[in-house]
Formats: sequence, structure tokens, C-alpha cells
Amino acid sequence: MADSNTFLRDIWYYALPGHQLKPGKIISKILLGEPILFGRTLAGQAFALRDICPHRAIPLSYGRFDGHEVECAYHGWRFDAAGRCTLIPALTEDQHLNLDKFGVRAYSVQEVQGNVWIYMPSAHRGDSDAIALDVPRIPGFGHETYQSVEVMNFPCFVDHAIVGLMDPAHVPFVHRSWWWRADANLAEEVKTFDPSPYGFTMRKHQLERETVLYRLIGRKPAVEISFQLPGVRIEQITSDRHTVCNLTTITPITETSTEVTTLFYTTLPWFKVLLPVLRPLVRRFLDQDRQMVIKQQDGLKYNPSLMLIKDADTQARWYYQLKAEFTRAIAEGRSFDNPVREQVLRWRS
Ligand code: FES
Ligand SMILES: [Fe+2]
Repeated sequence: MADSNTFLRDIWYYALPGHQLKPGKIISKILLGEPILFGRTLAGQAFALRDICPHRAIPLSYGRFDGHEVECAYHGWRFDAAGRCTLIPALTEDQHLNLDKFGVRAYSVQEVQGNVWIYMPSAHRGDSDAIALDVPRIPGFGHETYQSVEVMNFPCFVDHAIVGLMDPAHVPFVHRSWWWRADANLAEEVKTFDPSPYGFTMRKHQLERETVLYRLIGRKPAVEISFQLPGVRIEQITSDRHTVCNLTTITPITETSTEVTTLFYTTLPWFKVLLPVLRPLVRRFLDQDRQMVIKQQDGLKYNPSLMLIKDADTQARWYYQLKAEFTRAIAEGRSFDNPVREQVLRWRS
């Protein structure tokens, strides 16, 4: 089990859906316990700065943004999208300061398939270090954006949200509903897993259990589910005609708060039409997981030791192993050696 509540660093995290960030607007947000100011210039470029003025610590988000530069509310220092200080209004004509020394920390951001991702370096490393990992992409959707997005806050440490979402054994107990799975009987599942970049993948297989939602997608639906660090799950369902991909990202806000975002990418022509019906279902589904972690907090208060059993909890065990190996690889300055091996897992759910 994880021995301490620390966040993975030197890796890309999901930050926010791109459409939330309108040109000329700023949004302040805590990620991994750090205050971050997200902005989008009038030219459309997303950026992220530490949301603390280097002068006297007023969050820059209290200031003004003209679509090019952020102006601090307190003494009007100005910063561009790269965090460079461009103006200190209190200086007289003959007072020459090298403004390079007064910049605010900027984070690397990437906008991919409609989402803003942020690279969170460890405190002792600069942003310019080699960024080993790529931002995850939904295969087959090129530069397309998502068709739906739901964001939900889970009031728990990130590991509990991640383990809860990858756990197959909770499904019949937590997600029992007519549109997902009406039958409460457990069946034996046998699934093959392979290592994949910074995580593992449940090998593509035909869906044997018919659900109302799957039936809408087409004939012979097959599914592949991958997980990768720090907390990214991609489920691809393909039928004879269509593809539905779900991207679920889990980003720590603080040690006791985690943001779960679930997005759909699909070729289904009627998806947008059905969205008003689907959205509440997706939220209900996610909220069922959320209610469990809320209840779990009642027990975790007493700091009990937790168990992981084979094979139902093997994916959770892999998650902890992946995390530990990632941390060690970074500390030792070597490449990541995926601890997951090809394996067949069996459980009842
Ligand atoms: S505190 Fe920001 S300019 Fe002084
Ligand atoms: Fe769940």
C-alpha cells in the first residue's frame, strides 16, 4: 500500500476542459496543492502560472487580464503568458531593474483533443527538464474534441478515487441500475491484461454481458480498457459500425480532494441528441462511486490497514507498483521499467 499521501510529480495531469477557458479569461484552480492560474490569450493560447504574485503573494487571479498580460491587483506588476514580468509601475524613469528576476513560475501546458493538460514538476526540478511522457490521446479521434464532459469532486485522497474506479468487484454492488446492469447475479470474469505505456491494458474482447447502453452502439461490441499514470483511464468500445471512447481522468486537488473528469468521444451520430438523457445517467454512475469514497472516509479516519486480494484487487496492486516504480525511476534518473507482466485475471462480478 502507499505509505504516505504524496502526489506523483514530473508527469502530465489533466487540468480542465478547454471550453471552460474562454479567450481573454482566467481561471484559478488548486492542483496537487498548488494554486494555479489558467488563462487563454486572445490569440487562443492556453497558459498556466503560479497563482501567487512574486512581489507580495496576492493571488494573481484577483488581478486583471487584458487577453495578453495579467496585472496584479495590489501594485500592478504585469506578467505575460510565459510568466515574464513586463512592468513594475512603481519604478521611476531612471530606476532600471532587470525585470527577468521578477517573473512568476510558468507551467508547461498542452491542449489535446479539447483538454488542457499541465506538467507538474517536482519542487526541486525546473520545468525545462526532459518531459518523458506524452499527454494521453484517444486513438482514432485526431484533433477532435470531446462530445460530453462531466467533472465531479471526490472528497478523498487521489489513490482511493483511482483504486475505486479500477476495481471490478464493486460494480454489482455499487452500480446496480436497469440501464447499466439489472441482474444482480455475479458471474466469473476472465480477462487478459498486458503492460502498456506507464500502465496496463485489459486486452480487447467481445462484450458478453448485454446492457441497454451497449445494445445502442451496434453489433458485436468489443471493449479495451487501459490505465496509465498518473490517473488516466481510457475505455474504447467498438462495434461493427461505431466507436465510443470514454476518457476518465483523476487529478489530485489537495490531499483530501480529487477531481474526476469523464469525457466521451464518439462517432455515434445521435449521441448529441441523447445527451440530455445520458448526462444525468453518467453523473449518477459517477456519483455512485463518489458516495462510496465518502462513506469510506468514515472508516479511514481510524487509519486502518487495508487489504488487496488476488485477483479482484490486482489492478489496484499494479497501480501502487506503477506509482512506486515511477517515483524510483525519477529519483534515480533512469527510464521507467513497467512492473506489470502479461497476466490473466479472474474474479466474480
Ligand atoms: S503583490 Fe503583486 S504587485 Fe505587489
Ligand atoms: Fe464504479
